[in-house]
Amino acid sequence: MKAKARAHANIALIKYWGKSDENLSLPMNSSLSLTLDAFYTETEVEFTNSINEDVFFLNGVEDKNTLSKISKFLDLFRIARNMNERAIIKTINYVPTAAGLASSASGFAALAAATNKASGLDVNSRELSTFARRGSGSATRSIYGGIVEWQKGINDKTSFAVEIDDASWDIGMVVVIVNREEKKMSSREGMKSTILTSPFYKNWPEDSQKDLKEIKIAIKEKDFEKMGYITERNALKMHATMLGANPPIMYFEPKSILVMQIVHELRDKGIPCFFTMDAGPNVKILCRLSQGEMIKNRLMEDFKEYEIIVTGPGPGVEII
Ligand code: ADP
Ligand code: DP6
Ligand code: CO
Repeated sequence: MKAKARAHANIALIKYWGKSDENLSLPMNSSLSLTLDAFYTETEVEFTNSINEDVFFLNGVEDKNTLSKISKFLDLFRIARNMNERAIIKTINYVPTAAGLASSASGFAALAAATNKASGLDVNSRELSTFARRGSGSATRSIYGGIVEWQKGINDKTSFAVEIDDASWDIGMVVVIVNREEKKMSSREGMKSTILTSPFYKNWPEDSQKDLKEIKIAIKEKDFEKMGYITERNALKMHATMLGANPPIMYFEPKSILVMQIVHELRDKGIPCFFTMDAGPNVKILCRLSQGEMIKNRLMEDFKEYEIIVTGPGPGVEII
């Protein structure tokens, strides 16, 4: 009745932005991501008869604010197993929480895997990704390593992740932590408000699917530059939908823009690197893993006292 799992965060190259069904967490569009080695979550779940409410510890501190979300998530497994035990959940994020670095992805993928094992449900990876999805959309993709597609599907069973490439061809990311504080507006609230109020949103679902189609071809051809240009454009288009919301949603900070300018400067010098940014000010740079340290060194000239992390592709979720 007790299990522990580790799941790695993932950064979308083609973004998921918007739900068609909030209860089932079905997305408006399919998305594609790179799982990262440097950022992960470890979660332990223990079902027991000795308590009558779940308890949730995040980074060693009891977190009552997140508890109802966690309990609702565990209920999916309790219903499937026809069991009533409550659980003690202990999770550690080796990734800044709620800062646009996908803690909800590694967090719910790890929770799904540990709960799957501890409850004895033992579903396979594909089905596990549908469970992870119910906790956080991006968590669907963190079940697998390398480059992963979340196929939007049409219902609970058909909206799952598939690994499409192991990313072992000199691919990595440089992550610049410009601000590790928790964001004021969660991804969930941000996408909801964008759908409701942004006149630019209506173009997003179809346009992002075109980007997805193109990037999958680029990946198949191992055309890194093409992959990078599509990645950068897709992120900016997602942010454009948010800028059009009412009230406008803007996750950019001055330092985020500075990183983007340095990326363009490096590209002008012939170094293939491309930025992407999520619901938070931290910028991730898609690059050749072998050039990661060199890119970091250039960034250090302007970001001396900041954390800059070079990372390769990460593995799928595992029981530890
Ligand atoms: P992020 O950019 O980090 O993914 P989100 O706004 O998507 O930020 O999600 C942050 C939320 O994810 C947190 O408020 C919390 O509810 C949930 N979360 C983060 N880490 C964990 C974890 N280890 N286990 C369970 N839930 C987590
Ligand atoms: C911008 O998966 O964090 O990072 O499903 O509501 O938990 P919920 O949101 P979440 O949204 C991620 C949005 C994004 C893009 C992406 O990761 O695809
Ligand atoms: Co998230």
